[in-house]
Amino acid sequence: MKDILQELEERRAVARAGGGAARVAAQHAKGKLTARERIELLLDEGSFEEFDMFVQHRCTDFGMEATRTPGDGVVTGWGTVNGRMVYVFAQDFTVLGGSVSETHGAKICKIMDMAIQNGAPVIGINDSGGARIQEGVSSLAAYGEVFQRNVLASGVVPQISLIMGPCAGGAVYSPAMTDFIFMVKDSSYMFVTGPDVVKTVTNEQVTAEELGGASTHTKKSSVADGAFENDVEAIAEIRRLIDFLPLNNREKAPVRPFFDDPARVEASLDTLVPDNPNQPYDMKELILKVADEGDFFEIQKDYAANIITGFIRLEGQTVGVVANQPMVLAGCLDIDSSRKAARFVRFCDAFEIPILTLVDVPGFLPGVSQEYGGVIKHGAKLLFAYAEATVPKVTVLTRKTYGGAYVVMSSKHLRGDFNYAWPTAEVAVMGAKGAVEILYRSELGDKDKIAARVKDYEDRFANPFVAAEKGFIDEVIMPHSTRRRVARAFASLRTKKQANPWKKHDNIPL
Ligand code: HXC
Repeated sequence: MKDILQELEERRAVARAGGGAARVAAQHAKGKLTARERIELLLDEGSFEEFDMFVQHRCTDFGMEATRTPGDGVVTGWGTVNGRMVYVFAQDFTVLGGSVSETHGAKICKIMDMAIQNGAPVIGINDSGGARIQEGVSSLAAYGEVFQRNVLASGVVPQISLIMGPCAGGAVYSPAMTDFIFMVKDSSYMFVTGPDVVKTVTNEQVTAEELGGASTHTKKSSVADGAFENDVEAIAEIRRLIDFLPLNNREKAPVRPFFDDPARVEASLDTLVPDNPNQPYDMKELILKVADEGDFFEIQKDYAANIITGFIRLEGQTVGVVANQPMVLAGCLDIDSSRKAARFVRFCDAFEIPILTLVDVPGFLPGVSQEYGGVIKHGAKLLFAYAEATVPKVTVLTRKTYGGAYVVMSSKHLRGDFNYAWPTAEVAVMGAKGAVEILYRSELGDKDKIAARVKDYEDRFANPFVAAEKGFIDEVIMPHSTRRRVARAFASLRTKKQANPWKKHDNIPL
């Protein structure tokens, strides 16, 4: 008996050693942790339960029968993050470059199936040379099986991808279909075709980092939702994110203990909006002052910064925040910000996370490139996302909201539950100057007359009361009491039930 136990330990030790000490050292030399070290950091101590540690590939081509690889280049299983269950897979670059074989793919599929069945998030740590070249089409089939499960899991359990090494070719499409992608600066990249192919086909010369590094994907392409300095920081932040999310679409997000008075008064908010309507202010200040303990997990911080998206808690409960940022492009909506916010709103709605919308928007960004780029369709994504969302929706107008953007930003007309305005808010078709120039074109030569018209328009429309008189604004609130008002609004909506008409699925303008 003792021998058998000993043999098990020995077999385990071989599997745990991955590709061996030299390859582990090479991994460390690149500033990267191994798959097992990453899992150890990600999960609560001692909580990891591994599956398929002894799985081997079945390939007999190219001399592969001589290459024994217990675990086959991916570590899979489940464990807990602050006591809550998650499934995890981590590709092991030290074993055949973490390449995906038939059995490697099957291991990932096994935990994805369990995650869907048992209702827990999937966290995928990607660090792979792609399809196992020796296996050919079997490897492609394995990817296909994973892709299919990514789609089936979408909207059922949160899926989070961490890119911690190479992720190239068709392999990128598995993370691409997950809810969030995070990358590590300088040690990860994602692209469909690499620098060599790009050079051959288009004669463009770029490095892997320039083409698909963390900076590219968080600032230019918006493929990734965040970038971190190293593996340790990335994993710590993922643990923080998991704390905000429900385990699946049938459960609510966790309620955390909070030590922040929901009725906390923030006198400084009364002067947040400057007297000069053209002067910007930082909307993040409002988010941080409303949130429990000022805790805000921002999503896509470096992309389309004219809109802010992320998670806060109110009375311990997770709330998704969408906010125009007057500091960037005056907070206007455009293609990028509409896409960014639409995807975030849809994530929140899919997982029953209430949405707080903070509005200060001059409208959609004008321009040939916007129109040619399809701002009509992209803007419609955000409108569509808000209109179909059935989660509690609370909106606060801080300053201006004009035209179509007014309707889009979670207005009463899109089933907003509570639509509050600060006394500084202004709801109109457009700004006073633009309106007067259209209404009184014949008087444009007379500066005094036009100034008087502008003043008259401002007096009549540059306030929240016209909209409030019509019930489009439920209440005009004091800025300093925003946290209390918003927290109470969400508290009253905890039992909200709203359904859309039956359909197979909608047809959001993609
Ligand atoms: C089998 C692979 C492999 C692969 C790497 N290795 N990629 N084995 N299949 N795809 C092995 C190497 O032979 C090596 O084995 C070990 O992993 C480490 O690789 P190195 O090249 O030494 O590492 P490094 O210098 O860091 O370079 C990493 C790399 C490079 C850039 C990823 O390995 C590379 O270019 N690999 C091939 C990438 C590729 O073309 N993949 C197919 C893409 S198409 P030893 O034994 O020496 O440690 C694809 C399609 C997916 O993925 C389609 C989905 C539908």
